[in-house]
Amino acid sequence: MKWNTRITELLHIKYPIIQGGLAYLGYSDLAAAVSNAGGLGQITAMSLPNADALRQEIVRVRQLTDQPFGVNFAIGMHGASYMDRVQVAMEERVPVVTITGGNPTEILEILEPTDIHTLVLVSSRRQAQKAEQLGASAVIVVGQEGGGHLGRDDVGTMVLVPQVVDSVSIPVVASGGIGDGRGWMAAHALGADGIEMGTRFIATQECVHASSSYKKALIESSESDTVVIKRSIHSPARVLKSEYADKILEIERVSPTYEALKNYISGEANRRWICDDKKEEGFGWAGQVTGMIQDIPTVSELIDRMIKDAERIREKWRT
Ligand SMILES: Cc1cc2nc3c(=O)[nH]c(=O)nc-3n(C[C@H](O)[C@H](O)[C@H](O)COP(=O)(O)O)c2cc1C
Repeated sequence: MKWNTRITELLHIKYPIIQGGLAYLGYSDLAAAVSNAGGLGQITAMSLPNADALRQEIVRVRQLTDQPFGVNFAIGMHGASYMDRVQVAMEERVPVVTITGGNPTEILEILEPTDIHTLVLVSSRRQAQKAEQLGASAVIVVGQEGGGHLGRDDVGTMVLVPQVVDSVSIPVVASGGIGDGRGWMAAHALGADGIEMGTRFIATQECVHASSSYKKALIESSESDTVVIKRSIHSPARVLKSEYADKILEIERVSPTYEALKNYISGEANRRWICDDKKEEGFGWAGQVTGMIQDIPTVSELIDRMIKDAERIREKWRT
């Protein structure tokens, strides 16, 4: 079967499946595994220590795959400046850049004369239209079910995707709540040209930086075992439920200020659980799709499985 869409054609990939940016987890090993399996893997630029470290990851991913890959920029988070890293992405002529978490204008402008494809993450029709006006090659629409940072309006993927599809003419990638071939095909039925997955790719063999207790929690959690933190500071983000997450919610109730929260919600606190295995001392982002995760396959096993599911669905639609 052919899986061509505007996204596979734009990005020169076999399947329209993108690995989302994953802070402290999205390194070259995972990115190359996704790209080698026919999707688009990504290095997560802003959780690396500096621009040199990004260059090293880009060099490494090219040693591991000859397929296209992306570099993700979560701007406005982690408190780091980003233009030196964008410069590295430009110098290294990476095939794709994705941008989230802030105003993408500066990055889109600087990349405009290059042949780098730019995908902007959005969570509303208005943001999607703005990204198109600014020259983005495509948008990634993230619904409320997703892991990590979310839009402020609590709109789910099922409602958001068709509305964005109707509002822009550039390709649309659906994200948030997708973990198997059924979700992928549902996204296409909604008019999307491809999908992005975050949480599902963490529970794979090649996500080598994820701690064992975090991966175990992704397998054991049900669809109702996530909660949204940071609403009080207008930066909602979905995490796995835990005593640590409860502590954050309690602080938000009592003293809803960034100052009161900052030590609890820092990148350090994130890393303590997801990389260093100290569950009691940190938090872990995850989407509701965690309820559908039951194993830790290799990336290629996961993608093969999704293709088989999707083939079955397409056959069923024909009859
Ligand atoms: C652990 C984790 C870290 C994330 N870090 C980033 C990031 O650095 N940049 C980004 O654009 N999105 C980030 N996201 C969001 C994902 O790229 C993706 O949009 C989201 O996970 C999609 O929803 P899903 O988890 O239901 O697949 C993160 C998500 C998770 C679960």
